[in-house]
Amino acid sequence: KYRNSDMVSAWAEELVRQLAADIQASAEEAVAEGGMFHLALSGGSSPLALFQRLAVHHYSFPWRHTHVWMVDERCVPLTEPSSNFHTLHEHLLRHVRMPYFNVHPMPVQLNQRLCVEEDGGPLAYERDIARLVNGSSFHFVLLGVGYDGHTASLFQGTQLEAHGDKLVALTESPAKPHQRMSLTLAAINRARRVAVLVTGRGKHEMITQLSRVKDDPRKWPVTGIKPASGKLVWYIDYEALLG
Ligand code: 6PG
Repeated sequence: KYRNSDMVSAWAEELVRQLAADIQASAEEAVAEGGMFHLALSGGSSPLALFQRLAVHHYSFPWRHTHVWMVDERCVPLTEPSSNFHTLHEHLLRHVRMPYFNVHPMPVQLNQRLCVEEDGGPLAYERDIARLVNGSSFHFVLLGVGYDGHTASLFQGTQLEAHGDKLVALTESPAKPHQRMSLTLAAINRARRVAVLVTGRGKHEMITQLSRVKDDPRKWPVTGIKPASGKLVWYIDYEALLG
């Protein structure tokens, strides 16, 4: 249906409908292949309408055959409203029926400490991915993009080269809470499908700028998203596209 790198644009409501349908098609394809569907979801405000739509239509989605993973997380307890998992749970997960052991919050809090490298949080998440996800290739990764071109919790100034082949890393955000855990470009670029959702007039300037700049992941982390053999589709609403 899509080229390797493609774009869909529509008014926000229709865009969300389309994205939900594409996630569902990808889920059904994975289940038809006889496996589980591995879906990685971002935080931020952009996906809220999508979460709500998936929640309302939960009965037609193969949730029992789905694993939900996090693209990134703030290093705060999972019960905090600023936690991506908390938001995802409130808007989507608590409305669907799926085995709780198929839900994978990032281990940001271990030994009652938050995101301490030696506690091995990123490594533990990476091991779970390697154990459960075939080839560590998620079927579907949903990303957003920030005003400064960041995606997931990969920011300007994140030492992307230092991640090497790691799938999960601790990073620093310029915005509070600073400490984050994130899938790396290596993990995202292994996915079969990557969707970048961009909505709202406020994103227009950034979208215009991104269309002009050369790919430079250190400056514009989102330009480092290049699935090795999967597809990248940008879902941009008319407000973000046209201003
Ligand atoms: C997060 C993200 C982040 C987000 C962008 C866009 O946890 O905040 O995963 O990369 O997708 O910052 O955020 P908005 O959707 O709020 O504009």
